[in-house]
Amino acid sequence: MPSPAESANLMEAVVSLAKRRGFIYPSSEIYGGLNGFFDYGPLGSELKKNIRDCWWNDMVRRREDIVGLESSIIMHPKVWEASGHVAGFTDPLVDCKVSKQRYRADQLFFAPVIVDGKTIGYVSALESEKTAEDLQAAAESFKRKKAVQGALAAVVPRDFTEARPEEIELIPSPATGEPGSLTPPRSFNMMFQTNVGAMSDASSVAYLRPETAQGMFVDFKNIVDTTRVKLPFGIAQIGKSFRNEITPRNFIFRSREFEQMEMEYFIHEDADWAKCHEEWIAWCEAWLKSIGLPDSHLSRYTHPKEKLAFYSRGTVDIMFKYPFGVQELWGIAARGSYDLTQHAKASGKPQELFDEATKKKFVPHVIEPAVGVDRILLAVLCAGYAEEDVTDEKGNVEKRTVLRLSPRIAPVKVAVLPLIKNKELLVARAKDLHAKLKRKYAVQYDDGGAIGKRYRRQDEAGTPWCVTIDFDTIEKPGDLFTLRERDSMKQRRITEAELFALLDEQVY
Ligand code: GAP
Repeated sequence: MPSPAESANLMEAVVSLAKRRGFIYPSSEIYGGLNGFFDYGPLGSELKKNIRDCWWNDMVRRREDIVGLESSIIMHPKVWEASGHVAGFTDPLVDCKVSKQRYRADQLFFAPVIVDGKTIGYVSALESEKTAEDLQAAAESFKRKKAVQGALAAVVPRDFTEARPEEIELIPSPATGEPGSLTPPRSFNMMFQTNVGAMSDASSVAYLRPETAQGMFVDFKNIVDTTRVKLPFGIAQIGKSFRNEITPRNFIFRSREFEQMEMEYFIHEDADWAKCHEEWIAWCEAWLKSIGLPDSHLSRYTHPKEKLAFYSRGTVDIMFKYPFGVQELWGIAARGSYDLTQHAKASGKPQELFDEATKKKFVPHVIEPAVGVDRILLAVLCAGYAEEDVTDEKGNVEKRTVLRLSPRIAPVKVAVLPLIKNKELLVARAKDLHAKLKRKYAVQYDDGGAIGKRYRRQDEAGTPWCVTIDFDTIEKPGDLFTLRERDSMKQRRITEAELFALLDEQVY
């Protein structure tokens, strides 16, 4: 278990590498950035595309029972009334009137400071891996400052949504450390609003979608009527979603513009939903491992029954051990027939199927695996990042930074490195190989600097293999290259045909 300092260092190192090597930049950086928005650079956009492509290939193309969809980002505003987002897609917001900071009430924790059974004040702390320790330390310091004698009770953290009205005035703001400036929590709708057309009035209000899922429900009938799908079947979509998060944080983990990969799997109302739910959880776990996430970092969180939405039968989140804590990566929800029923009511268009066996119409139920591309990308960066001491041929020890990305998602699959750049035959062979490889794969040609330096550059970018074209390649029989593996740093001689066979097997 890494210490908090090690975790903070890992996060810092990942953010720094992401910027330095062109994976991720703050959005509009030359204007100071915009909180909660990010740009993906040359390596980042390849990595993101590979994650999307792997998911799409495995979820849609390689299955017989799932079809794809690309619905519009701005949909009829009634979609969001029917889905419940206009009324209920809210987070509890707290303002600090002095510092003008805003907090999510459920992420702002507090506790009374109790000495010899008497409350002498309150302390507060923002949610973290060690909220309880932070509050306890704050309570001890508070007691010392007030010079109160007696036994300090262990703090019992509560979040701000649980604060009683008479407590709100007494809880210090995390920004100022003083009580009296926090407002009672109020509901804040997270949907971004815009206006469609030339008039900016109430009749033209529309929303940027906060999830891609509603596209699948609204187009359910279109797909049933225009394709040959039969229950059970799924509709999958990848696309941007937007949420005006109160506290975007942890780099790209919680942002205001992000990308989702969601799938709605429709089943008969009498089907064994629990079995289907479990199958989808297992599928999602296996898929995450297939793109290189280690089993040791994955766990499950089952939402307690009393905290589920009234229509939900069960939700399990696949959690990932990020440096800042174990957090939700992928939610798999059994949503019953809620969404189709709501849209049928609101649109007046039945969303039913006909059961040939019972000769009755019914509304299908749905299992929904919903994941964020950006969260997966952050997970693979964090799990893959390592700094190692390596010894070169001369016995010198140096540091190498390596990104252990699965070949499936690595932004560059192979780097082609001519040993030197001024030997015509050698360069010609390297360029020929590069040209052949780039027809199928993302490859890089690099002839700049010492070979060791070039290996390090590729290690940092997560490139699984480098091939070096050397004098033996052109002078000895067999046309053999040196293949160098990123993780083991081992080298072996390989033919062009063997290289293509290796790529064909590992990059899919
Ligand atoms: N249709 C269901 C739905 O949208 P959700 O749990 O709100 O459920 C699904 O979102 C997934 O989308 C999350 O598990 C997470 O991976 C990703 N996600 C949600 N909000 C996000 C945000 N603000 N930034 C990045 N990813 C987010």
